[in-house]
Amino acid sequence: MELGAVNGIIDKYQAKITSLISILHDIQDQYNYLPETALKKVASRLQMDLNDLYGVATFYKSFSLVPKGRHSITLCRGTACHVQGGPKILREMKKELAIEPGQTTKDKNFSLEVVNCLGVCAIGPVMVVDGKFYGEMNWVKAKRIVEKIMKKGNGGRA
Ligand code: FES
Repeated sequence: MELGAVNGIIDKYQAKITSLISILHDIQDQYNYLPETALKKVASRLQMDLNDLYGVATFYKSFSLVPKGRHSITLCRGTACHVQGGPKILREMKKELAIEPGQTTKDKNFSLEVVNCLGVCAIGPVMVVDGKFYGEMNWVKAKRIVEKIMKKGNGGRA
């Protein structure tokens, strides 16, 4: 894997260990996940123990050690969303995409995640697609959004 971008990102933060989270976020933005070779490079340049670095990378849910899909779907399973129909949306999304939360479809088009609260309980149930929030969701609307992306092809946006 070409690591030029990784070195550039580390340089941008002057290889400071205090900027570790920002460095990891930038690397993930670049590659859509945290490649092992990139983490090794970060550990070596920041003079960190690789196990400690993996500890950080696996602690935060926003980081992924496996390639993610081109489109991310996040469903809230917090209490407010749960009582308003969240579980039905999750069931339908799992069926539609044929994956479980934390997984990516075989064609790398979608990744499915669940979180415990997105902080906008008043508009629950909530679904986030490619960073865009959709409130007062139901499984029919959720399926429509996914189908719209599928129709647009791999590069389509919601
Ligand atoms: S419980 Fe879903 S946004 Fe808070």
